[in-house]
Amino acid sequence: MRIVVLVSGTGSNLQAVLDAVRDGQLDVEIAAVGSDRPGTYGVERAADAGYPTFVVNFRDYPARADWNRALTREVASYAPDLVLSSGFMRIVDEEFINSFNGRYLNTHPALLPSFPGAHGVRDALAYGVKITGCTVHWADAGVDTGPILAQAAVEVLDGDTEETLHERIKVQERRLLLETLDRLSREGL
Ligand code: GAR
Repeated sequence: MRIVVLVSGTGSNLQAVLDAVRDGQLDVEIAAVGSDRPGTYGVERAADAGYPTFVVNFRDYPARADWNRALTREVASYAPDLVLSSGFMRIVDEEFINSFNGRYLNTHPALLPSFPGAHGVRDALAYGVKITGCTVHWADAGVDTGPILAQAAVEVLDGDTEETLHERIKVQERRLLLETLDRLSREGL
C-alpha cells in the first residue's frame, strides 16, 4: 500500500508511522510527505528519514481552488493507494476528495462527531466532558467528517490542560492510526 502523508505541523503521528515502517512493523510504502506551508517539523522528519517531500504553499495561490488543484496534482503524481492527513489543518475541496475517493484517511483528537475543527482538545476541555478521545476516519470535504473506522476513549482528568490531555490522546491516536494502517494494508481498502 503506497501512501502520501500530509502534515501541517509537528508530525509526531507521522513519526510513529516512519518508525513503524523502519522497524518492519508496518508494511506500507511511504511515497512522499507533503505540507501546505514551508518549514514544518513534519516535513523535516520525513526528509531526515530519506523520503521525498513537497510543499504546496497555501499562501502562494490567489484562490483556494487553485491551491486545491495544485495539491491534488502533486499528490496524484505519487500515485498513492491512500492519502493520510496526519495533522493536516486545511480543508480540501471536492476535486481532491473525488481524486482520492474513499482513500483519504484522517485522524482527529476527539470523539467525532463531537468537537471537530482545529481545536478539538481545547473545545472538549472547555465544554467540560469527562471522556474524550480520538477518531480515525475516511475524510470527505467537510471539517473532520466522513465514515468512522476506529475510535478510542481517553478520560479527562482533574487539572488537565490542553497540552496534558492532548499528549494522552496522542498516545491512543498513534496506536489507533498504526493499527488501522496495518489492517488496511493487510485486508485492503
Ligand atoms: C493530531 O492530534 C491530529 O489529530 C490533529 O492534529 C494533531 C497533529 O499532531 N488533527 C486535527 O486536529 C485535525 N482536525 P502531530 O503534528 O504532532 O502529528
